[in-house]
Amino acid sequence: MKHIIFAFILFATLFLTTGAFSQVPGLSVNGKLYDTNKNPVNAHGAGILYYNGVYYLFGEIKKGKTWRVPKQSWEDYRVPAGGISCYSSTDLRNWKYEGVALSPVKNDPKSDIDTGKVIERPKVIYNTKTKQFVMWVHVDAKDYSYSQAGVAVSKTPAGPYKYIGSVKPNGNMARDMTVFKDDDGKAYLIYSSEQNNTMQVCSLSDDYLHPTKTYKRLLINRRREAPALFKNRGKYYLVTSSCTGWSPNAATYAVATHVLGPYKEYGNPCTGPGANTTFQSQSTYVLPVGKNTYLFMADRWDKTDLEKSDYIWLPLKVNNGKVEIKNN
Ligand code: DGJ
Repeated sequence: MKHIIFAFILFATLFLTTGAFSQVPGLSVNGKLYDTNKNPVNAHGAGILYYNGVYYLFGEIKKGKTWRVPKQSWEDYRVPAGGISCYSSTDLRNWKYEGVALSPVKNDPKSDIDTGKVIERPKVIYNTKTKQFVMWVHVDAKDYSYSQAGVAVSKTPAGPYKYIGSVKPNGNMARDMTVFKDDDGKAYLIYSSEQNNTMQVCSLSDDYLHPTKTYKRLLINRRREAPALFKNRGKYYLVTSSCTGWSPNAATYAVATHVLGPYKEYGNPCTGPGANTTFQSQSTYVLPVGKNTYLFMADRWDKTDLEKSDYIWLPLKVNNGKVEIKNN
């Protein structure tokens, strides 16, 4: 019996140290990513849910002709809101298309998820108490004046997700967003607010379906967006971009000892050629893949042909509290 237990422990240790993550060293994406049917992965502003040994990638479906919204002072390029796609993988390299996780609706201008609206930056977490998968997503009008956080649920990871509705957390605008589930099971919504001038972090209800009254303002007047939050050795790291529409700019990161802050700002985590444009990309998610090792996921937008936008996935390391993303 002792031998069996020993063999099991040895197998489990080997699997955990070399199995699940053995594909990760050297994993990077620089441009197009293809699914197992050899179609380009269409999942922008993406996030990843890791559940029962499987990675689920959720992202915006960008399809169709790009057009520019008239009378906007900034380059508001758009495609019809295509909803949210889902892909699954056990090794982060081979992605199987699972279908449309959240379908948009057609010809219903009153709906948040009408194809004429904006549906961006989905993030999914699992609620162990309700046994529901919960998707938070930025929903907006085509001129980004609506600025709300939408929520959808499913009993299965890949969906289909049922859209519940949207909210301005505590009356505040919510644009680019992410969701973070902490080790204690509490979850938080992090979003660009106050006309993108300030970011906010808001604690979610136990079922993850509602913002609570507990929220903090962070990166005040710093004009940051594209938040990606991760935890390392008890500290919280928030990578963000500047606000330059679809054009790339330099990322920065901020660190806190509590998820609600206060966050201290540091510089650009990217180093080497291209660092000042985040290697021509914009952050969307940081996935833990090993001790002090993460996968930095970002979008390389093609603003005049959004369907052609592709991806940058690079290793992100934390060394003595310093974040580093290299493009080699
Ligand atoms: C920057 C945001 O990060 C994107 O998600 C998108 O909303 C574009 N702006 C629109 O220009």
